[in-house]
Amino acid sequence: MTLRGKQALVTGAGSGIGAALCRALVAAGAEVMCTDVDAAAAENTASTLGPGARSARLDVTDAAAVQAAVDEVVQRAGRLDLMFNNAGIVWGGDTELLTLEQWNAIIDVNIRGVVHGVAAAYPLMVRQGHGHIVNTASMAGLTAAGQVTSYVMTKHAVVGLSLALRSEAAARGVRVLAVCPAAVETPILDKGSVGGFVGRDYFLQAQGGKPYDADRLARDVLRAVERDKPILVKPRIAHAQWWFARLAPGLMNRVSMRFIADQRAKQAQSRPSTL
Ligand SMILES: NC(=O)c1ccc[n+]([C@@H]2O[C@H](COP(=O)([O-])OP(=O)(O)OC[C@H]3O[C@@H](n4cnc5c(N)ncnc54)[C@H](O)[C@@H]3O)[C@@H](O)[C@H]2O)c1
Repeated sequence: MTLRGKQALVTGAGSGIGAALCRALVAAGAEVMCTDVDAAAAENTASTLGPGARSARLDVTDAAAVQAAVDEVVQRAGRLDLMFNNAGIVWGGDTELLTLEQWNAIIDVNIRGVVHGVAAAYPLMVRQGHGHIVNTASMAGLTAAGQVTSYVMTKHAVVGLSLALRSEAAARGVRVLAVCPAAVETPILDKGSVGGFVGRDYFLQAQGGKPYDADRLARDVLRAVERDKPILVKPRIAHAQWWFARLAPGLMNRVSMRFIADQRAKQAQSRPSTL
């Protein structure tokens, strides 16, 4: 499969991985609709990419707006080949500090946002007889570390949705990929802290190295699309963590408990809440 001439829509395209996906898609010859709840950020991504990129404000929590964005691409280009459900948020910190509003917000963006993308794009792709849905999940969708508990819940949902849909979509000509990176160098590492949690420290210590490059990840994603992979896990070390979690869940849990104890000790001497 080549990406040249393909029609793509990316959510959360104003920053980080979404912006990198847009750059990689245009570099591969695809045409991309860059969307984000932050219209200026989406426009900023598209403005550097020439005529192959357009932009629009799109809040993925608004199902009708997601449907309208998909319809707009189809009206203009005649089809949608690639749907990247990428927008996401994180809350990091002790779970007893999360408000119900924060729980609802992360469910709305990370789960319902992906559901809205699938509900808009999948029936269309079934009618077309082809298409590729790429859901940005996370290593948090394959393993379960504490203090990002609400995030882990949402990303497990995205992995489950992606793998189950993949198994029934194949016979309809539609492909599905779950993207599961560990820490990637994007602004999300510095967002969503509750009660002294420092995402950058947490994720980098969990990963045992520096964050993966977003543009490199985007190229990996497009290669996984071309090869029709079910799951993309990056970096390589994350494969070992994934295997460890599956083969020795009890031991993994004890390692996670010790990790959280270390993190709490650091957080106790750290900054106040950024909320
Ligand atoms: N950076 C990492 O370490 C990492 C690792 C694994 C998975 N992820 C996932 O990658 C995806 C992209 O995250 P990122 O790291 O690029 O973060 P980011 O914060 O740089 O970008 C996220 C983008 O999503 C947008 N967004 C937030 N709420 C939205 C909404 N309701 N509708 C539309 N857009 C919205 C933001 O405006 C932002 O531009 C997320 O799903 C995240 O969970 C990130």
